[in-house]
Amino acid sequence: MRTTVGIIGGGPAGLLLARLLHLEGIDCAVLESRSRAHVEHRQRAGMLEQGTVDALRACGAADRLDAEGLIHHGIELRFDRERHHIDFPALTGGRTVTIYAQTEIVRDLIALQLAAGPPLLFEAEALAVERPESDAPVVRFVREGREQALSCAYVVGCDGYHGISRNAFPAGRSRTYAHDYPYSWLGILADVPPSGEELIYARGAGGFALHSMRSPTVSRLYLQVPNGTDVADWPDERIWDELAARFAVDGDWRLERGPITAKSVTPMRSYVHEPMSHGRLFLAGDAAHIVPPTGAKGLNLAVSDVRVLARGLIESHRTGSTQLLDRYSNLCLARVWQATRFSYDMTRMLHAQPNGDVFDHRIQLARLRRITASRHAAAELAANYTGLPLGP
Ligand code: FAD
Ligand code: DHB
Repeated sequence: MRTTVGIIGGGPAGLLLARLLHLEGIDCAVLESRSRAHVEHRQRAGMLEQGTVDALRACGAADRLDAEGLIHHGIELRFDRERHHIDFPALTGGRTVTIYAQTEIVRDLIALQLAAGPPLLFEAEALAVERPESDAPVVRFVREGREQALSCAYVVGCDGYHGISRNAFPAGRSRTYAHDYPYSWLGILADVPPSGEELIYARGAGGFALHSMRSPTVSRLYLQVPNGTDVADWPDERIWDELAARFAVDGDWRLERGPITAKSVTPMRSYVHEPMSHGRLFLAGDAAHIVPPTGAKGLNLAVSDVRVLARGLIESHRTGSTQLLDRYSNLCLARVWQATRFSYDMTRMLHAQPNGDVFDHRIQLARLRRITASRHAAAELAANYTGLPLGP
């Protein structure tokens, strides 16, 4: 098999890149190791920055997003049993965010690609990227038990944190930066209307909790739990009781409960791989970097990487110039580190340290008080949350 751009991974990064290239008439193919059903049902992100929504709209992938996405004008911070509204449009000159599930974005992009787009092969597992420094890199993959080769002009690794693309960087030519957090998230999906209109980030006495949503009838909630937690130890009633305790406020607010339809535990890690390109191999999204989910940045970063990379590949295709491709890694890493910092700060500000460090707790409350007391501090949070500019 031969193509111009070989894309490994059919998550949001790989699928969006394929769509952007296809619209410019650039030949590409996507290899996805899992089945279509698996990819379409993996519960993950839900908060989209304006730039992410704009990118999906510009490539004709936002019909359902525009009809069903929920536009949010702020978030609520909860601590010390108090509620504080952070007003994004007022603090950022009119910016908002949109709640629309990653699974739905993936479904929309898959439907477009299967209808008219470039090849998208499910259950095609990439094994290795060969000769990335040459003009003709090759992706070795296995499908239906048969090993095959995809010859490309460029290869893009969109294969997430557990992918194989990073392995093709020669040892000594790359560096990784990682930080592990001493807690995980237990995430649930529940058939119950959200208990409020906006997302709630709570620093409860027992730790962090987040109230998000998927639709007017489906809620998505997260709870800080110790690393190594087994979901079997968290029957539904225990989850609701703990959520209710962490969201508790003075005044009349009530957490609505309902049937839980999904439960999972996610550990938290910050990780950055530098550089994000080697020869004709480029990494995008979780393949190059992950952040803890507290700032809701992972999917948005994947989309911004892909927007920059698509521009570079289109420029190279049209003019033969690799100027933008040559700058791809540096352009993306600047934004990646800002999102890494923001996600780290949000995580540290809102989660209880497992050893019950009371000094740390006091610093967290002082940070939260500063944000709610100072327009300047709130504006800094709002600018980062709604998304920093894409850059040149
Ligand atoms: P992925 O979605 O991981 O896709 C990679 C794809 O590559 C997968 O389909 C995988 O099957 C495939 N693959 C892997 N290896 C191979 C191989 N060898 N060959 C072929 N295919 C392969 N982000 C936000 O922006 N906002 C949020 O609100 C948010 N909340 C989150 C909440 C949770 C609980 C979690 C876990 C994450 C959250 N994120 C959030 C992060 C977000 O989900 C990820 O950053 C996003 O999925 C990255 O997309 P991607 O396409 O780079 O990688
Ligand atoms: C969601 C996840 C997040 O990590 C976040 O910060 C906000 C929303 C979500 O899944 O809806």
